[in-house]
Amino acid sequence: MDVDRIRSQIPVLAHTAYMNTGWSGPPPRRVAQAMKDRIDLELEQGPIMPDVLEAGREIQAQTREAAARIFNATVDEVLVTRNTTEGLNIVLSGLDWKQGDEIIICDMEHGSVIAPAQLIGQRYGVAVKVVDLEVHDSSEMIVTKIESAFTPKTRMVFMSHILYATGRRMPADEIGRLTKDRGILLMLDGAQTGGHIELDMARSPFDFYSIPGQKWLLGYEGSGALFIRREHLERIHPAHTGGRGIARPAEAHNFQPEPGTMEKFLGGSVSVPVQAAFLEATRFIEETGIRNIEARNLDLAGSAKAKLSEIPDVTVLSPSERRDSSGLITFAVADLEPVAVVERLWENHKIVVRQVGYPAGIRASLHFFNTEKEVELLVDGVRELT
Ligand SMILES: Cc1ncc(COP(=O)(O)O)c(C=O)c1O
Repeated sequence: MDVDRIRSQIPVLAHTAYMNTGWSGPPPRRVAQAMKDRIDLELEQGPIMPDVLEAGREIQAQTREAAARIFNATVDEVLVTRNTTEGLNIVLSGLDWKQGDEIIICDMEHGSVIAPAQLIGQRYGVAVKVVDLEVHDSSEMIVTKIESAFTPKTRMVFMSHILYATGRRMPADEIGRLTKDRGILLMLDGAQTGGHIELDMARSPFDFYSIPGQKWLLGYEGSGALFIRREHLERIHPAHTGGRGIARPAEAHNFQPEPGTMEKFLGGSVSVPVQAAFLEATRFIEETGIRNIEARNLDLAGSAKAKLSEIPDVTVLSPSERRDSSGLITFAVADLEPVAVVERLWENHKIVVRQVGYPAGIRASLHFFNTEKEVELLVDGVRELT
């Protein structure tokens, strides 16, 4: 991997140690350029001129194909969305919930899991069972805890594939084997996975999976993608839809919805410039190769965790086992508020990290463009504060 060449395409890296891809990735110049080119075309030619419209349709089709490659799914199982959360909501609000159904989530979840699950619970009388995790729970322990929460009324396990707070990679395949056996649906929030680890819907036991464009894929905010396994498509009602979700031109007397296709979730217009950026971002990631990226992220994170844990007063809150790990690492510094550490690392060294609330800590995201030198800068910066 030619890290110097990759870095030269991401301008922000020239002056910051950027370790907050888990929030939003730093865009490569060519990703921004793809968006600018589309904006310029619409500016110069007009947005609905035949050639411009045709080029826009082509971008949308290619974006969907690119998202399908990221998922390793077929194109007809994939919808380009505006973000992770939208995809999760499409599924939750489209299922036919019954009073007394149960959804299982975990306590260390992001608001984009907690809020949609709890609101579905309140609206339909669905019980949301929250499984409490400990930071250092093993994969086996997590599987056992989730399995113990199953009842005959469990309809869905809904969880992040990588926990945003600690970077823990959840034992999703193992959980998926249990849910499949029992006819329970498994929906994964992949906000921290697309562009970060290899995804394989063709072989995974996941029913629904949602990813963003703006984080590890290095695209822009306002883009994402949703996978719905084909066998479930008919049962997800389009809670939102519109003219593009109809098989034929809308006829009030002869309404023909698209029951078995992802198109039924399309409502109105979408942002083609943002999709152009998503498309270019997937190409950028694919050129380096997702397996190479995953391996490098794990190497950098492993090194950071090992070095940070040698500092007295620092507690690493992310898993140490490689198979449970990701490029996200979280740590706490004794007697220092996470927010103070975040501010000082920025002021002293131009290191960009963030604080997380539960467990309370400082989170650094290490992506393939980061370097061992930056890891050392982070470790030295933290040591200095203790
Ligand atoms: C686990 C998780 N889910 C959902 C989100 C929200 O993502 P989006 O803005 O793409 O909906 C985030 C963002 O940080 C996240 O970490």
